[in-house]
Amino acid sequence: MVTGSPLPWWMSAVVYQIYPRSFADANGDGIGDLAGIRAHLDDLAWLGVDAIWISPFYPSPMVDFGYDVSDYCNVDPLFGTLEEFDALVAEAHALDLRIIIDWVPNHTSDRHPWFLDALTDRSNDHRNWYVWRDPRSDGLPPNNWVAAFDMSAPAWTFDEASGQWYLHLFDSAQPDLNWDEPGVVDAMHDVLRFWLDRGVDGIRADVVHCIGKDPQLPDNPSELAAIPHSALNDVPVTHQRIRDIRNLLDSYPGDRVIVGEVYLLSTEAVATYYGDGDELHLSFNFPPLYAPWSEPHWRRCIDSTVHALAPRDAWPTWVLSNHDNPRHRSRYDAAALFRGEDPASVVRRSELRARCAAVMLLTLRGTPFLFQGEEMGLLDAVIPPDRVVDPGGRDGCRAPLPWDGTDHHGWIAPEGIEPWLPFPDESSTCNYASQRDDPDSVLHLYRRLIACRRRHPALSLGDFVLFDAPDGVLAYRRTVDDEVCAALINFTDTTVAIDHHFGIEASLGRAPATVAISSDGSGEGSPFDGRLLPDQAVVLTT
Ligand code: GLC
Repeated sequence: MVTGSPLPWWMSAVVYQIYPRSFADANGDGIGDLAGIRAHLDDLAWLGVDAIWISPFYPSPMVDFGYDVSDYCNVDPLFGTLEEFDALVAEAHALDLRIIIDWVPNHTSDRHPWFLDALTDRSNDHRNWYVWRDPRSDGLPPNNWVAAFDMSAPAWTFDEASGQWYLHLFDSAQPDLNWDEPGVVDAMHDVLRFWLDRGVDGIRADVVHCIGKDPQLPDNPSELAAIPHSALNDVPVTHQRIRDIRNLLDSYPGDRVIVGEVYLLSTEAVATYYGDGDELHLSFNFPPLYAPWSEPHWRRCIDSTVHALAPRDAWPTWVLSNHDNPRHRSRYDAAALFRGEDPASVVRRSELRARCAAVMLLTLRGTPFLFQGEEMGLLDAVIPPDRVVDPGGRDGCRAPLPWDGTDHHGWIAPEGIEPWLPFPDESSTCNYASQRDDPDSVLHLYRRLIACRRRHPALSLGDFVLFDAPDGVLAYRRTVDDEVCAALINFTDTTVAIDHHFGIEASLGRAPATVAISSDGSGEGSPFDGRLLPDQAVVLTT
C-alpha cells in the first residue's frame, strides 16, 4: 500500500446503511422518516461511523418500499421534505458524517409520469424509454427471463391497450428503463446532478449491472433460466455506461463515491465492474454475505476476493447483512439449529459468532458496510403471516430498530398505531439504550472496533496477508509502514492454543502482542496469552 498521497475518504471509511422506514419515527405514523434519522445522528457519530447510506426515500407507491421510484428528485411525504433532506445533509456534515444516497437507474415505478406517458400510445415520446416487444407468434412472452420476487412469473407484462409486452426484471410495477434511449441517459444523469448539487457525498447504484442489456434480448441458457436478472447484462455497453456515470461523479469535487450493487455471485464477474479504475469506485461483493460461519468457507471468500480484485488494484467491500437478506446473526442461528446444535446454547453462540464476524468485517482489507441494527447484534423479527408486506419476503430484517426497552421501543405510538412491521422478539432486552449502558454489549464492541481502526491505519489501509494457524482459526496480518496488526478468529467451539510455531509474534515483529480488541471484551489491553477461547476473535497490535 502506497502511503503519502492523499487517499479518498471512502477507502478507510466505515459505512452504515439506514433503511429509513425502520430506523426511527419522529412523527408517530409508525414509519421511520428523515426527522428520525436527524434525531439519531449524534448516536451514529458516537458509534464512530464515517458515512451513512440511506435506502430510497423518494416519492413511491411503495410496492417495493421505495425501490419503485415515481419521482427521482423529491422526498416522499412519508419521509419528510426536500428541505428536511438538506438539513439532514448539513447536520450530518457538521458531525463529519458523509451521506450516500440510493439511486435506482434500472427501473422506475409504473406510476412514474414517464411510464404513464409511455402507456398512452406507441408514438408517445416516452414510449421508447422502456423496453417493449411484440408478442411471439405463439403468444408467449418475448423470452424466458423470470422476474425477481415471483420467479414463477415472466419478467414481462402484457399491455392489452398497445398489444405489446414490457420488461420488468423485478415486480411488474417496476418497468425497466431502456438505457439505449439517449433521453433516459440524460434524465438519469440529471438525477445524479440534482443530488450531487445538494451536497451528497456518494451514490449507491441499485442493480447497476442491469442498465445494459443484449439488444437481442436472447433467452437465458436453460441452466440459468430460473435465476432472475442473470446472464443478460455482461455486455460492453453496460461498462461504457458506468464509465460515463463515473466521469460525471468525478467532475464534482470532494471524492464523490459510487458503490454499485452488482448482484452477480461471482467475485471475478463483480471485479470487472471496477473497470481499469474508471468504472465503479466500489462494488458490493455478496459471497461473504451468504457465507456460512465456517473457517474454510471464509478463507475461500477472502482468497477469491483478493485474487479477483488485486490485479485491477480494486478496493474491496465487505458486508454481512443488508435490507435484502436475513441478518447474519439469524443466519448463523438457523444454520446451527439445522446442524442439530443444542437450542439452549444456539442463541448465545450465534451472538458470539456475530461478534467474531464484526471483528472480521472491521479488520479485513476494504470498506465495511454495516446494516442498521447489526451493531446491536439484532436478530430478524418473526413476521406473522398477516403482517407480511414485502413481495420478496424480506420483512424480517427490515423490522423497526428498538431504541429502548419500553413497550414501543422509542417509536412514538399514538393509540392504535403500530409500527409498519413488528419489532424483533428480543427487543425488550436487546435495544439501543440497554446496550449503550452496557460496556460488554455488541454495540460497545462495534464502537471499540471502529475506534481501533482509526487508531491503527494498518487495520483499514494496510496490506493484507493470511498466515497459518490451527484448523478452524483464521489469522491475518495488516501492515502499513512500520505498523503491524493481526486478527485471529476462532470458528470452533473449543479453546485453541496458538503456539509460537504459528509465528504470530514473529509475524507481528515483536513479542508479546497486545490484545487491542477481543470479541467478548476479555483481556483487552493485556499481553496476548496465546489462547483463543471458543468462538472468540482478537485483534492484536504491537
Ligand atoms: C436491489 C435492492 C432491493 C430491490 C431491488 C429492486 O436489489 O437492494 O431492495 O428490491 O434492487 O430495485
